Order: sequence, then structure tokens, then C-alpha cells
Amino acid sequence: PAPHRIQDRNIVDKEAVEAKLAGLADGTLDFENTPDTDPDLAGNRAWGRAIVDKMVDSTLGVQAVAESMIHTEAELSQVIDTAVAASESWVAMGAQARAAILHRAGAALETHRADLLEVMGSECGKTLDQGDPEISEAIDFAHYYAQRGIDLENVDGATFVPSKLTVVTPPWNFPVAIPAGSTLSALAAGSSVIIKPARQAARSGAVMVKALWEAGVPREVLQLVQLSERDLGTELVSNPHVDRLILTGGYETAQLFRSFRKDLPMLAETSGKNALIVTPNADFDLAAKDAAASAFGHAGQKCSAASLVILVGSAAESKRFHNQLIDDIRSLKVGYPQDPQTQMGPIIEPAAGKLLRGLTQLGEGEKWVLEPKQLDDSGQLWSPGVRSGVKPGSEYHLTEYFGPILGVMTAETLEEAIEVVNGTDFGLTSGLHSLDPDEMGYWLENIHAGNLYINRGITGAIVQRQPFGGWKKSAIGAGTKAGGPNYLVGLGSWEDAPVTH
Ligand code: ALA
Repeated sequence: PAPHRIQDRNIVDKEAVEAKLAGLADGTLDFENTPDTDPDLAGNRAWGRAIVDKMVDSTLGVQAVAESMIHTEAELSQVIDTAVAASESWVAMGAQARAAILHRAGAALETHRADLLEVMGSECGKTLDQGDPEISEAIDFAHYYAQRGIDLENVDGATFVPSKLTVVTPPWNFPVAIPAGSTLSALAAGSSVIIKPARQAARSGAVMVKALWEAGVPREVLQLVQLSERDLGTELVSNPHVDRLILTGGYETAQLFRSFRKDLPMLAETSGKNALIVTPNADFDLAAKDAAASAFGHAGQKCSAASLVILVGSAAESKRFHNQLIDDIRSLKVGYPQDPQTQMGPIIEPAAGKLLRGLTQLGEGEKWVLEPKQLDDSGQLWSPGVRSGVKPGSEYHLTEYFGPILGVMTAETLEEAIEVVNGTDFGLTSGLHSLDPDEMGYWLENIHAGNLYINRGITGAIVQRQPFGGWKKSAIGAGTKAGGPNYLVGLGSWEDAPVTH
């Protein structure tokens, strides 16, 4: 039979979803070789446009958020007790049966693609071309972790004992893929989950959770909460029944959570200050395109975003790179996600503090190549900004802004450029554009970051193919990477010593 491609789908078509489920069940659909986000298979943008017509107002999320609101410590205790008690039957079910539910969860996320796109757009400013692959990533997590759960159960000579209760606190910038990935990993490992979506992404998280419930994840095992008071958050993280915390957010947030309970094992993916190095041996057209997309996708609001481009040697004088970069950035259509043509959406809240400084102030010796402009009264819609002349050790070099700004630096040599990259506190994603194998090898040996990309953009890690996680202040905890083979291992412990291969 012809190979079954995950991307070949019409999600609102129930028959296609059923066919996909059958393919997963009888093994004719090979997830391992065709993850949903595989760029070679992408038809995401065209598909995303088509779905606009089918968008529905997601009252689904509003209702779920209201129902999940916790007001008192007593209510919170009850949720915790229920989740802990439910973990027993979830573990007893076995990894195979849990995997079947996870595969159904992947299909349910497809069924709700239109709801999710609508809610991510209206709530978090996700444009269709960013939101659509994000949903595919969530689906990839479901199928991938399903299998990893089975693998864990099959390790010779050792028994994996999952956490009873994992608390998931995802961010607003990937309002579906990160909540889904974190939740599904813990569920696959055999843990109950309490998820508290970010305040700004409460409805997106709720629609995602509803899809998982619909797929058969028991409500007791997967609890959705919103907390009416900040103190309840402290209470949740500090509760001794919580075995693990999966946090994605700022480094400071991770530190704060750690201060609530020092002995709580945490899998935290935090901040980044990511750079793309371009050498004279680069394909300048490709480098410019990847720099623009990595810097301004979702208006730069990604921990993985490129915040710096470092031009090595004569690359700094390349008119081709410069013109291509500026053309690519200038031609980005800035607007709101409800317009399917929009390529760069709004920032999550009116620019303030550090981000406002980054959008409006220059450091010594810097100048605007493109000065960011506020495009309406909301304070949230800005044109993309590019500054040149950024100096090593300057505020811009060292600060994560999380918005639509790119800084250009220069370095005499590749070695010097790598020093500049390694000179920040963070080490999440990093990129090199060069066609020279010696430069690639040298860069790979010396760069300090978790996700390394050569001749590709530095955002949009693909589940299984590019497990995601950082070094230094970009990660806290077990150090295992999301979407990678060892992630689930961090969500429990071994009864006997595991066999190492
Ligand atoms: N996993 C997301 C990316 O790679 C953050 O862009």
C-alpha cells in the first residue's frame, strides 16, 4: 500500500480521522517516519487558510475555564486528593492501554483543530501559519509519548514507578503544544496530572484538555485548574502530594517555584538568548530567510527565537545578506490573526518594562536598521525592529526581550562569534549558516546550547527528530529533552537498576 502520510488529512473530516486511527492501530501508519510537523510534508499554510471558513466561536473553552476555577485551599486539596487516588487505576491500566488513549488524544486534537486555531488566535495572537504547525506538534507529542510509555514498561530487569501526581504549568506563548506535550508525557508515563494553563492562555489550555477528556483520559486523572488567588499557586506547588513539576516559563519563575519547595523534582524549560551565526561561506539568501523567520515568528515571543544575528568577517559587508534580510522583514504582513494573510501578530500585552525599552531605546553605538513602530492604540501591534552595532556585554546582547526585535552583531572570526554566543547566561537554541564542513564541525564542538541547527531556522523543533531543551539558565532539572527518548524517565523512578544499553 502507498505510505500513509500523517499530513494527508482533512481534520474536520471524521472519516479521515477514523482512517488515521485505524492506521495507527494496525501499524500501516508509521508515525516514527512521518511526524505531523515534518516540514517536507507541510501544507500547513494553505491548509490553515482553508480552515478559516470553518472556525467556530470557542465557547468550549470559556465554559471549561469557568468550571475549573479554584477559590479555596479546601477545593484545591480535593482536586489533589482525587488526582492522587486516580493514579492507581491509571498505572494499573498498563502502558499499552494508556497508549491507545494517547493515540485517540492525537486524533481528538485533529478533530478540534479549528477550535484550537480560533482560540489560540483570539486569546494569544497566534497567526494561522504559526498555530497550525503548533497543533501538529501537539499531535506528534501524543503519538510519540504513547510509544515511549510502552518502551518504559519494557525495560529489562527494572520496573519504572511513575510519579503519582505531576503538576504542569505551561506558558502562554505555545498555548497548545507545550501544555499538551507536558501533559501527555506525564500521562504516558503513568502519572495523574493537574494542569494550570497560563492566565493569558486559559481557554486554549481548556480546549486542549477537553479534547484529551473526549479521547478517554479520565477527568480524575487529568485535572484542569485555574486559581483565583496567587497564594493558591504557592499552595499547589508546595503540596507534598505533588511528585513532579513540569514548568515552561521564565528563569525567574522557575527560581520562585523552587523557593516554594526545594525538594520538588522539576523539569523546567526556561529562558533563552539565541543567536544565529552567519559566516562568509553561508548561502546568504537562505540565512536571511531563516533569520527573519526565527526572529519574528509569533512576534519573537518564543524561548527559541533568534534575538541576535552575528555576522562573521566579510559577511558583515554582504549587501546580498543585508538587503535580503531587510526585504524579508519589511515584507512581513503585521496584523491580527483573524486576517489569514497576517504573518506577524500582536504581542501578548501592551509593551512595557524591558520589552518597551528594547523596542524604543538604543544602546551605545547601536542604530536602527528598521525602527519598530507602534501600529495602533493597543500597544500590542508593533512593526519588527532591527538594530545594528550591538556590542558584546551590552544590555541588548545579554537580555531576553521576548518580542519582535533582532540585533545584529559582527565578529572577526567564527571563534569570536562563538565566544559572543557563549557569553550569555542562557543556552537554548543556536544556529549556524555556513556551507563549510570545517566551520560546521568547529561550531558544533564549541557552541554551548541545547538545540543546534545548521542551515535551518532555530525555532520549530520537531518531536523525536529534534528533542528540545537547553543548557545553563535555559533549563532546570533532569536535563532530559521534550520530544526526546528520555523525557518520560524524568517522570518517575526505578524500582531496580535500569539496564543501560
Ligand atoms: N519547541 C519550540 C521551538 O522549537 C519552543 O520553537
